[in-house]
Amino acid sequence: MSKKRILTGDRPTGRLHLGHYVGSLANRVALQKEYETFILVADIQALTDNFRHPEKVREAVREVTLDNLAVGLDPKLTSFVLQSQVPEIAELTIFYANLVTVARLQRNPTIKAEIKERGFGGSVPLGFFMYPVSQAADITFVEADLVPVGEDQLPHIEQTREIVRAFNRIYGKTLKEPKALVGKVPRLVGIDGKAKMSKSLGNCIFLSDSPEAVEEKVMSMYTDPTRIHPTDPGHVKGNPVFIYHDAFNPNKEEVAEMKKLYQQGKVGDVEVKRRLASVLNEFLSPIRERRAEYGRDPKLIDEVLHEGTSKARGIAAGVVARVKEAMKISCI
Ligand code: TRP
Repeated sequence: MSKKRILTGDRPTGRLHLGHYVGSLANRVALQKEYETFILVADIQALTDNFRHPEKVREAVREVTLDNLAVGLDPKLTSFVLQSQVPEIAELTIFYANLVTVARLQRNPTIKAEIKERGFGGSVPLGFFMYPVSQAADITFVEADLVPVGEDQLPHIEQTREIVRAFNRIYGKTLKEPKALVGKVPRLVGIDGKAKMSKSLGNCIFLSDSPEAVEEKVMSMYTDPTRIHPTDPGHVKGNPVFIYHDAFNPNKEEVAEMKKLYQQGKVGDVEVKRRLASVLNEFLSPIRERRAEYGRDPKLIDEVLHEGTSKARGIAAGVVARVKEAMKISCI
């Protein structure tokens, strides 16, 4: 029996961070043996809001691939696919565009938030506005069963499922309807306490940060604003330092004890932060080692991308042929 498939992806606009890890990367690593896994390096999607900076996107393609390898995705098990080199995705996007209304895209909460964040105002580029349609093509071209993602991507997976159902209803059952899988921490707060760790907000700890950078960032972290002295009783709930301890400290008893002391005003911010910095650096240490190892062979990343992309194209050709047949636009 053939394995079920995973497809998920990243926009190559910069380095991946801890939020990516707990939202999606950890699930990718955990499931890569059980599922046939495809990681899409979504450079065309990255261009939808970076089309003036193609060099930035190109540079980040290798960075993002290396981040995925460094966390433990094994290129022998997992295929890395460069989106721009799979023209079938663009073809499917055009077909699916008929099945989505402008009003439906306008209601997509992630698109809404991103339009605001980017300050597009009334001038949203069409490519950006419709990237969820292209994301449906990303997911369906390999007939993915499961899509491990952070919480912010759920509206896009729902959109994909709607497109699949509409397609199958109109043209006959052709496409597979995927399911989303959200990570242990669906949305990680930033070091500034803002709702989301995000590159554009400048509140990230990156997987490739040095031990010194991690320490500096942790020591500057936002904690409990109501606490002036270390002897004041502190708040644990919603406190980023403890949210990170919960997410990354494997010693649950230590975390419980620290929370208790913190609430009683018996341990200071500096101490819980110092512990967090060392927990994070321990967590990142094997990731740094793998990064250095993969980084020693400069051709390796290109090879991994070539191999994965050519495997994906083989699958895409079959799916697009069936899609075209269903839509009565196959070769006459
Ligand atoms: N939109 C995703 C992000 O911003 C990246 C992405 C592109 C993706 N294609 C995908 C995620 C397909 C899951 C499935 O992180």
